[in-house]
Amino acid sequence: MKTHSLLMPLDMHLHLRDGEMLQNVAKLTSYTFSGAVIMPNLVPPVKTKEQVLAYKERIMSACGMEIQEDEFDEIFEEEGLSGGDFEPLMTIFYDNYDEDYLDDIRDEIFGIKLYPAGITTNSEGGVASFDVETMRPTLEAMARMDIPLLVHGETDGFVMDREAEFMSVYELLAMNFPDLKIVMEHITTKAAVDMLDKYPNLYATITVQHLLITLDEVAGGMLQPHLFCKPIAKRPEDREALLNVALNAHPKVMFGSDSAPHPQHAKESCGCAAGVFTAPIALQVLCELFDKHGRLDNLQSFVSDNAQSIYGICPEFKEVTLVEQPFKVPAKYGEVVPMYAGETIGWSIEDVL
Ligand code: NCD
Ligand code: ZN
Ligand code: ZN
Repeated sequence: MKTHSLLMPLDMHLHLRDGEMLQNVAKLTSYTFSGAVIMPNLVPPVKTKEQVLAYKERIMSACGMEIQEDEFDEIFEEEGLSGGDFEPLMTIFYDNYDEDYLDDIRDEIFGIKLYPAGITTNSEGGVASFDVETMRPTLEAMARMDIPLLVHGETDGFVMDREAEFMSVYELLAMNFPDLKIVMEHITTKAAVDMLDKYPNLYATITVQHLLITLDEVAGGMLQPHLFCKPIAKRPEDREALLNVALNAHPKVMFGSDSAPHPQHAKESCGCAAGVFTAPIALQVLCELFDKHGRLDNLQSFVSDNAQSIYGICPEFKEVTLVEQPFKVPAKYGEVVPMYAGETIGWSIEDVL
């Protein structure tokens, strides 16, 4: 039976929510990933140092790592081990923060997440207009302090054109702030792929679902609420462009699941919440996809190595072995219906070291 091992998988875009939902979903990621970039779109959004530290604690506790981080490090040092199991890489919600604010919070965060106002789940307090001069003090300070800017890139235009229309904002930011690391989150279009090679400071994350589906799978037949997310899946040529950079290990592209759990009643309702829940199946599905294209050897770059080089991080050791053996995806994890619920996928997790 064919197996494949991945070292230190990283999920560079993840929603863990809070409360009961956090308890339900956290371990599904911490089991197989060394670290994940945690999105701050809670209600209210994560903005202050106190909020970041408290949220990180709740995440660690939900992952079963209740010990304070410094104690944790000491214990592991004594035992000659390299560290804990899973690192939540924390972000805060973008605002026009001043330099002192950033200085104070710098050590507690991995990046700052920018949402255009009202464009996606819990983004009402986001940026209403992209005025470079208004944003300049914050973005220049971030560049100086080496704090990356992570962006949900959509306008409020026609739904299929929103991401492509946002390219002018990415260009404006990339040109005006050449020292700022800018990550185009969950890209879904050829237009975004083409931007990658135009500006040295632009990078991107790609989800599992956008490598697999187009708008046809979402709405071409019976409407599939569990495949509805923002940005919505696009055209076949867009999926081709995304697949091409992922399969060929383009060095500026990283895996970010954008796994976004919503309770079943919020998805299967009149007014379906946006978000696809992929945390428990992401690595298996990626293995199947890369194998199908004969590119398994490039999966390591996509799920870890590129992110390590781009962000200069050194994740906790973890080795995940996958095996080409059918896995029947559960119908539900708690209240949440995953992608491919009830279906059988071709690869399973065999072991995690
Ligand atoms: C995300 C969520 O539910 O928080 N939803 C989504 O469709 N992707 C928000 C986001 O990442 O835009
Ligand atoms: Zn988003
Ligand atoms: Zn997201």
